[in-house]
Amino acid sequence: MGSGFFRLIIATSLLLTLLDVCRGSTIGICYGRNADDLPTPDKAAQLVQLHNIKYVRIYDSNIQVLKAFANTGVELMIGVPNSDLLAFSQFQSNVDTWLKNSILPYYPATKITYITVGAEVTESSSNISAQVMPAMRNVLTALKKVGLSKKIKLSSTHSLGVLSRSFPPSAGAFNSSHASFLKPLLEFLAENQSPFMVDIYPYYAYRDSPSNVTLDYALFDASSEVIDPNTGLVYTNMLDAQIDAIYYALMALNFKTIKVMITETGWPSKGSPKETAATPDNAQTYNTNLIRHVINDTGTPAKPGERLDVYIFSLFNENRKPGLESERNWGLFYPDQTSVYNLDFTGKSSVDMITETNVTSSNGTTPTWCIASSKASELDLQNALDWACGPGNVDCRAIQPSQPCFEPDNTVSHASYAFNNYYQQNGATEIACSFGGTGIKVDKNPSYDNCIYMTTGSNKTVPSNTTAISSTSSSSTMCGVPVWIFSCFLVTFMSLLSPETR
Ligand SMILES: *[C@@H]1O[C@H](CO)[C@@H](O)[C@H](O)[C@H]1NC(C)=O
Ligand SMILES: *[C@@H]1O[C@H](CO)[C@@H](O)[C@H](O)[C@H]1NC(C)=O
Ligand SMILES: *[C@@H]1O[C@H](CO)[C@@H](O)[C@H](O)[C@H]1NC(C)=O
Ligand SMILES: *[C@@H]1O[C@H](CO)[C@@H](O)[C@H](O)[C@H]1NC(C)=O
Ligand SMILES: *[C@@H]1O[C@H](CO)[C@@H](O)[C@H](O)[C@H]1NC(C)=O
Ligand SMILES: *[C@@H]1O[C@H](CO)[C@@H](O)[C@H](O)[C@H]1NC(C)=O
Ligand SMILES: *[C@@H]1O[C@H](CO)[C@@H](O)[C@H](O)[C@H]1NC(C)=O
Ligand SMILES: *[C@@H]1O[C@H](CO)[C@@H](O)[C@H](O)[C@H]1NC(C)=O
Repeated sequence: MGSGFFRLIIATSLLLTLLDVCRGSTIGICYGRNADDLPTPDKAAQLVQLHNIKYVRIYDSNIQVLKAFANTGVELMIGVPNSDLLAFSQFQSNVDTWLKNSILPYYPATKITYITVGAEVTESSSNISAQVMPAMRNVLTALKKVGLSKKIKLSSTHSLGVLSRSFPPSAGAFNSSHASFLKPLLEFLAENQSPFMVDIYPYYAYRDSPSNVTLDYALFDASSEVIDPNTGLVYTNMLDAQIDAIYYALMALNFKTIKVMITETGWPSKGSPKETAATPDNAQTYNTNLIRHVINDTGTPAKPGERLDVYIFSLFNENRKPGLESERNWGLFYPDQTSVYNLDFTGKSSVDMITETNVTSSNGTTPTWCIASSKASELDLQNALDWACGPGNVDCRAIQPSQPCFEPDNTVSHASYAFNNYYQQNGATEIACSFGGTGIKVDKNPSYDNCIYMTTGSNKTVPSNTTAISSTSSSSTMCGVPVWIFSCFLVTFMSLLSPETR
């Protein structure tokens, strides 16, 4: 093993660091378990993986759940529940024991990246906010002792109720009665480069004052817009406005480096008779638009292009949650794991094209094809097409002028042909049809006239090695470059280096 070996190591770790530093915005899901009819954690973990969800928030550190996500690659945000804050704040040894017995045995097989210490404590009737900082410092000390304080970030989640004012966004301000709690917390977050975590629900804003908030504005259906009179910034949806209100509140206290993370948002699919907006249609619209907005890396008007990490509430309907009917109907899935409504986690395809939410989805027994999404941008499709016909090793002669698949002469049609060839030649796996989210699996043969699309199993060519890292639903771009292009460079780079290792 010469210097080439070390160069390979260095190159690889450099690229992995890059991957980490400049990954785009992410979509995760909250896995609440306040129910008596949920599937086992193992089944839930399979469901999460089936939908290519890479980030999951749980509210405790349940051992069965930690075990279920071992070796799945899913990143977990775990929680110290409010009921444990007292014990965690009182004695360092309590926290050390918890870390040793409940976390370390499962780490790093189970990827834990965040710990929330307390959840929405300002909403709690008992005065527990004073316990948060001592508990958080003890957790930090415990993590430092085992060398994990850089790998696992600490924060605490808040409701939007920490603000005394959220409109207009530029006037966003924290409620001064929480000042003694928030000031040391914000200093801690800034010092440890941890995010400010907030649960944001445009649904409640609409439900509680439908005369002041339009449904379109809450659902990201851009027909209505709101202008901040102080900044002139135009808001086309309420979530952005609420996020910016937090940013302005942070800036008003001179915390300019703290990032905002959305640890819960969503829309209920069912509610009491008075909750007329709680419908499957509205829930699907909200979450679909949310995902598209986040994945697009648009940022918010006050923070354009800023990365945004968002967790959708919730994986399952939870039948034991108290309160109005809507409280028990935030889930994307019923306890039997069937979908409440279809949701595309890639944020790319059109809503009605999605059929993959069927849990008993195809197993390779029935043939499938891969085509280009007509909703994808021309540029993304052209890039993907160029890649498939180049490094992807697809034979693209059929889409050349005067060949059978040249007409219709447009990028969607040509990309569809190329995507499908690549897909069939590479095992017809989910990943082989991702193309940065621009590919869609279909079960209808797209062949027409003399343009014959390859069918599963009809042609066995050597699979190319470029699918090692594929784009995921939750981070399709990296520094503005689709991940799959990046992964192609990674493979090329490594193959250039590898001869020296021999
Ligand atoms: C809650 O605790 C904080 C910090 O100890 C204290 O300043 C505040 O007065 C308490 N509030 C109530 C209602 O007990
Ligand atoms: C600020 O918080 C206090 C205590 O929770 C609450 O009574 C008050 O109404 C809040 N003020 C505003 C403007 O929201
Ligand atoms: C609607 O807005 C007006 C003026 O801003 C305010 O006075 C009123 O309280 C709001 N209504 C609700 C239900 O929030
Ligand atoms: C995506 O980003 C582009 C450019 O930043 C913007 O024009 C477009 O409206 C965004 N789409 C969504 C759904 O946010
Ligand atoms: C999945 O699809 C199959 C065949 O289309 C159908 O029979 C089955 O009921 C579906 N299952 C769910 C949970 O939607
Ligand atoms: C999936 O395929 C495997 C082997 O091809 C088969 O044993 C299994 O029963 C199939 N599962 C379903 C749900 O069709
Ligand atoms: C398999 O691919 C080769 C060239 O890539 C082609 O000539 C042949 O017709 C294909 N066979 C089928 C059954 O599609
Ligand atoms: C792909 O990887 C295999 C071994 O993993 C290797 O034999 C083959 O040459 C590689 N193909 C390409 C195109 O790099």
